[in-house]
Amino acid sequence: MSARAAATIWRNGGARGLIRTTSAAIRMEAPLLLRGRRTAASVGAYYDLVTDISRRLYGDNFHFGYFPTGEETLPEAHDAHTDLVAELASLEAGSRVLDIGCGIGAPAMRIVRRYDCDVTGVNISREQVRQGRELIAEQGMSDRVRIERGDARKLPFESSSFDAIVCVEVAGDICVTAADKPTLIAEMFRVLKPGGGVGFSDLALSEVAPRADRRVLRGVFYDDGSNLVTDWPALFALRGFAVDEHHCILEQTMATWAHVRTLYAGDASELARCYGKSVARRTGAQIDRLPEILRRLATFPVLAARKPMTDAPRAGAVAVAREA
Ligand SMILES: C[S@@+](CC[C@H](N)C(=O)[O-])C[C@H]1O[C@@H](n2cnc3c(N)ncnc32)[C@H](O)[C@@H]1O
Repeated sequence: MSARAAATIWRNGGARGLIRTTSAAIRMEAPLLLRGRRTAASVGAYYDLVTDISRRLYGDNFHFGYFPTGEETLPEAHDAHTDLVAELASLEAGSRVLDIGCGIGAPAMRIVRRYDCDVTGVNISREQVRQGRELIAEQGMSDRVRIERGDARKLPFESSSFDAIVCVEVAGDICVTAADKPTLIAEMFRVLKPGGGVGFSDLALSEVAPRADRRVLRGVFYDDGSNLVTDWPALFALRGFAVDEHHCILEQTMATWAHVRTLYAGDASELARCYGKSVARRTGAQIDRLPEILRRLATFPVLAARKPMTDAPRAGAVAVAREA
């Protein structure tokens, strides 16, 4: 962190802000330096670090926009993404819903307003839990939405305690190793009541990206994408979920990047003050390169899965997983 960036953080957040930011930056970078990879704790630290600037620039949702017609504004596309995942989870009024990796609760509040259900969010980022609880209280929704701090790979909830689960663009952040993927799905299966539905979306890659592209992905997402090569429908089926529907929405998310570029350019001087000129310039250049990389390598699966009424493995589901 440059002296100038530290001075800006001090000006905006005082000594506390500077300590919080410096500690998050160390927790985020240390595992990369020491182990050569991200850990769940370092992903949490990354979100601790980027939440303020991301909210300023991008709003209270931490996911790609979904632009089914291409005419949507960015906030409309954010909500459309949440609505799509909620529909896939087959939510009903009064449902008890778990939002895994809930950001600061914006999708959860949207869901409560539309479906009249109660949502519990879980998030590993201390800062997002803090800001999320504040936002929910400001909106007068603390009786319908609550956020727990926890790791989605070991959910802090009883078995069979939710009617439905939503997981909006978060699995790739949660799964820092390949083994985390079946663990995450097994945890969803455990906490869901028999018959309960999951709505799921995430960015995935069809193959490991070449080195130059990995650098760009890491610059924008704090992840070089090595762990994003995943056949999510097959993994859900393998655990015994019935996968009722799945398709790819990559093309309908791509307009997000033109919006991000415009927002980024509009805030260039503040970004340079916060992160230093060279980091701000490099990130801008990486954002420019990203759409081409995503078009070449990415998919964006969305799916609806259902926990069967009994926990016997389904022959058909296993066959789907083997084929994939
Ligand atoms: C891309 S953001 C999506 C946030 C939210 N679903 C939304 O759409 O606004 C990923 C979220 O996953 C959270 N997260 C990452 N790893 C996690 C883990 N192991 N357990 C729980 N939450 C995690 C992050 O802190 C962040 O809030």
